This record gives sequence, C-alpha cells and structure tokens, in this order.
Amino acid sequence: MNSAIIVAAGKGTRMGPGVDKLFLEVAGRPVLAHTWQRFNDASCIDDLVIVVRDGMQTVFQELAAQFKFTKPFQLVSGGVERQDSVWNGLAALPATTEIVAIQDAARPCTSERLIADTIAAAREMGAAVAGQPVTDTIKETADGKTISRNVDRTRLWSMQTPQTFRVDVIRRAFAEMRRRGLAVTDDTAACELIGQPVRLVAGATANPKVTLPGDLIVIEALLRSASLVGSA
Ligand code: CTP
Ligand code: MG
Repeated sequence: MNSAIIVAAGKGTRMGPGVDKLFLEVAGRPVLAHTWQRFNDASCIDDLVIVVRDGMQTVFQELAAQFKFTKPFQLVSGGVERQDSVWNGLAALPATTEIVAIQDAARPCTSERLIADTIAAAREMGAAVAGQPVTDTIKETADGKTISRNVDRTRLWSMQTPQTFRVDVIRRAFAEMRRRGLAVTDDTAACELIGQPVRLVAGATANPKVTLPGDLIVIEALLRSASLVGSA
C-alpha cells in the first residue's frame, strides 16, 4: 500500500505577516486544495495523512467536504520544524503502508506522473526525490556581498517534493537524525545519515513551491496551462 503525507503545518513566514499561504486563492481555489486534489486523484496513492497546525483541523475537514475529496485521510498535528511535522505524519501511517510519498502542501503543481515515478524509484531503490538540474549559474558568497567562488552547475540539482521512501528506510533515517539531534531542511538529507542512496527523479513539468508573494503569479499560470492539466 502507498500512502502520502502532505505537510501543511507551517507558518508561511516568508509570505508575510497575517496571511496563511496555503489558503491563498490561486487558479480558483486555495493552494492547499490543488495539492490535495492531485493526491486525491492519483491512482498510485491509497490514503493520505495531512499534517496541520493545532486548531486548524475543522478548517481542513471543511475544505475536504467543499472539494469532495473522497480518498481516506487522517489529520495529524504538526511540529515546530518541518521535520517534526514529517515525524508526526510517519507515526500516523497505517501499519500496511510500504511506500510513503512526503509532499509540501505549498507545492500545488505536482503531477500524478511525478508522484508515480518517485514511487516506482523508491520501490526499487528505497528512496527517491523529485528535482531538477539547476539552470541558473550558481556562485558562492562568504559575506553575502561579493562572490567568493564559482560553483560547477552541472553537478547541482534543486530539490522538490514528493520525496518518497520505503517506510522502513525513512523511519530509520529519521530515528537516526533525531537520535543525533540534527536539523534537516528536506527528508532525503536524513537518508545520508544511514548511507541510504536517493534516486533523483526529474519531472516533465514545473513543480515550484509557494514561498514568496511573487511566486503566486507564476503558479497561477502553470496551474491554468494546458500542459499541466493534461499531466494530472
Ligand atoms: N511545514 C510543516 N510544518 C512546519 C514547517 C513547514 O508542515 N513546522 C510545511 C509547510 O506547511 C509547507 C512545507 O512544509 O507546506 C514546506 O515548507 P515551507 O515552504 O518552508 O513553508 P513554511 O515553513 O510554512 O514557510 P516559511 O519557511 O516561509 O515560514
Ligand atoms: Mg519553512
């Protein structure tokens, strides 16, 4: 059985004060409703765990009813950092789950094809992540003002979600991370701690995250584009 954990318990600080970025409307519905819809409709996913901030459970229940999401889901409380929210989601997975796809709620353009491709790769390899080769020229700076070093772009990929794992693998990786008291910004970083290789899976369509106010206009266009509609 394949489950998804959608992490939706962040504060959206970089979007600015007083807004919950997951509930901003884009292409006719809240960001979160796009993401949830894709996992609701994906035939490769059997059930969902949605990780939310305390006190938000009712709002999420109402959203599921409004958009008629039919796939079984559980709501779980999030933690202070994203990794704590993932940890709580992992604890709530059904005992029958073999593969888990971990998804940012703030990433509404993820296609069913990409979800399925990461699941296939994780089944084979233990761990897989959606990503893209970096296209911009990248420089390193020591002081935030001047370039200190050129970085070879050909070896760099930017990471997205889903990040997909055999459940035993991600549980072991997260247990090790917590035992060592480390912080990670993505789930695959925990795999490094147990020497678990992670397969890179490039999507055919753009899969950006809603982070800053300017992101919405691009994401609106992507969600409305025919290519994305066709790839769901
Ligand atoms: N997330 C979470 N629990 C946290 C932090 C983040 O579930 N404690 C989720 C967010 O809701 C989001 C995803 O992880 O769907 C990716 O995180 P990010 O884009 O960084 O969102 P926020 O942490 O909410 O935003 P910011 O970093 O700007 O505060
Ligand atoms: Mg964050």
